[in-house]
Amino acid sequence: PPVSLIGVPTDIGAGHLGARLGPDALRIAGLAQALRGRGIEVEDRGNLAGPPNPVEPPMDGYRHLAGVVAWNEALMQASLRELEAGRMPVVLGGDHSLAIGSIAAVAAHCRATGRRLRVLWLDAHADFNTSDVTPSGNIHGMPVACLCGIGPGVLTGIGGHVPAITPAQVTQVGIRSVDQDEKRMVKEHGLDIYDMRYIDEVGMKRTMEAALEGLDDDTHLHVSFDVDVLDPSIAPGTGTRVPGGLNYREAQLVMEMIADSGRMGSLDVVEVSPALDERNRTAELAVDLVESLFGKSTLMRD
Ligand code: ARG
Ligand code: MN
Ligand code: MN
Ligand code: MN
Repeated sequence: PPVSLIGVPTDIGAGHLGARLGPDALRIAGLAQALRGRGIEVEDRGNLAGPPNPVEPPMDGYRHLAGVVAWNEALMQASLRELEAGRMPVVLGGDHSLAIGSIAAVAAHCRATGRRLRVLWLDAHADFNTSDVTPSGNIHGMPVACLCGIGPGVLTGIGGHVPAITPAQVTQVGIRSVDQDEKRMVKEHGLDIYDMRYIDEVGMKRTMEAALEGLDDDTHLHVSFDVDVLDPSIAPGTGTRVPGGLNYREAQLVMEMIADSGRMGSLDVVEVSPALDERNRTAELAVDLVESLFGKSTLMRD
C-alpha cells in the first residue's frame, strides 16, 4: 500500500533530550526518496504537534505522564486515519513511548477489520516496566506493558480497548538490557523474547524464522524498530546505547526476512537522536535498513 510518514518530534518519554530531532534526521537522510525509489507512493504528513518537554522529575513513577498521553492521543488518531484510508503509517520518532499510540491505532484497526495483529519489537530493551518497578520513570521504558494493559488507564485506554494487545502477540528481537524487576514481569507475562544470547547461539536466520513463525495471509505485522537494537558502533545516535547489539549484516538480514514475509502493515522508527550522532550516520543507516524492510535486495530473488 501507499505509505504515509508521520513525524512525532518529541523526547517527552525519554530521560535524555534529543529524540525530538529524529523525524528531520530521517527526512534529511532521504527516507521518502528512498521509498519512492522503490516505486512506493509516499506522502510526508509532516510533524504532529504536542506539548514541549518540561524536563521534570518523575511523579508517582512516571515522568511527564500528561505530555506522553497528549502526544500518543494525537498519534493514535493520525495513524488510525491513515490505516482507514488504506495507507501504511510509518511513524518517525521520537522516543519509544510513541509505540503506545501507534500500536493502539493498529490494534483498533485490526479489531474493526477482523485481522490478526502481531508486533515485532526490535530493541535492546524489553520496554516492559511499570511505575512500580521502573528505575527511571521514563515512559519509553514502558510501552509494551502499557499496550498489554499494564499501566495507567490514560495510556492503556488510548485505542479504546484494554488491553490493546496481549503478550502472546508480541515478539522481541535483539534484547540485551532488562531491568531487575522487569525481568520478573516479562517472565510472568510470557513475552516471546529472542535476546542477544539466543541470536549468538542459533544465528539470525533461525532466530527470524522462529520470530516470524505463524504469520498467515490475515496477519497484520507491526514492526517497532528502536534503533538502539543496533550495535552502538554502527548506530551511535541514540540516547540509551547498550553494547553488543546487532551488527550491520544481522540487521540487514532481519529486515530482509521481514520483507520476505510480505506481512508488514505498519512501522515505527524511533529513538534516533542526531545530536548524539556522527554526521547523521544513524539516520542514514536506519534509512538503508528501511529500504530492505520494503524489499530492497542485492539480487533478484524468487
Ligand atoms: N529500561 C530502561 C528504563 O526503563 C531503559 C529503557 C529504554 N527504552 C527505550 N525505548 N530506549 O528506564
Ligand atoms: Mn485496512
Ligand atoms: Mn525501545
Ligand atoms: Mn531501546
